[in-house]
Amino acid sequence: MRIDVVSLFPDFVRQSAAVGVVGRAQHRELLQVETWNPRDFAPDKHRTVDGRPFGGGPGMVMLIDPLRASLAAIREAAPEPVHVIYLSPQGARLTQGRVEALANMPRIALICGRYEGVDERLLQHEVDEELSIGDYVLSGGELAAAVIIDAVGRLQDGALNDAQSAQQDSFSDGLLDCPHYTRPEHHDAWGGVPEVLLSGDHSAIRRWRRKQSLGRTWLRRPDLLTQRALDEESRVLLDE
Ligand code: ADE
Repeated sequence: MRIDVVSLFPDFVRQSAAVGVVGRAQHRELLQVETWNPRDFAPDKHRTVDGRPFGGGPGMVMLIDPLRASLAAIREAAPEPVHVIYLSPQGARLTQGRVEALANMPRIALICGRYEGVDERLLQHEVDEELSIGDYVLSGGELAAAVIIDAVGRLQDGALNDAQSAQQDSFSDGLLDCPHYTRPEHHDAWGGVPEVLLSGDHSAIRRWRRKQSLGRTWLRRPDLLTQRALDEESRVLLDE
């Protein structure tokens, strides 16, 4: 998969995508991340990328043409069609379901806004989707782009070492993840791990984990349970 990012801070985007699972996915050529600086596409000698908002008010708005030219260069750089995403707090909230859909696309482009945002006409004519990573305001879209690159990059086939771990993630089945334990079996200060995990009874372990997931979701994120039809086993476990 290829992700093109339009940003005034391309180094930040590149560096954040160079480490960990996503860095490894790039190394393995499962993921290609390219950055484009709209300043490089500004026609004037000052390389201007922003202007005052019509109607007055504080801040600056990103100009159409440097962004439009960046997108034209992105479309020209490879033959696959590009799904263009603008990152802003006004967008639809990013979910794991949306991340999975994006991860299956051959190519996406992420536009990072700065200042008060971008000229609305660019959104109308060039953008397929507007996404937000949460109900708070960042000073630019770069952190949101890093979030999407990470969430999408780790889902590329072969990016994770243990193929099962993406299936067991929080949210992959609409529930929060269960607790995890490792050595020592008994910690001097904080005691032992739940007995069932040492039992070797795989069916009991699976049921325990599911029950923990359901319980945590019920306590911490009941909104997730109301959004989803519970399967028969989950209903039984919740009633126990
Ligand atoms: N840019 C500024 N704030 C943002 C947010 N919450 N999500 C995505 N992009 C943003």
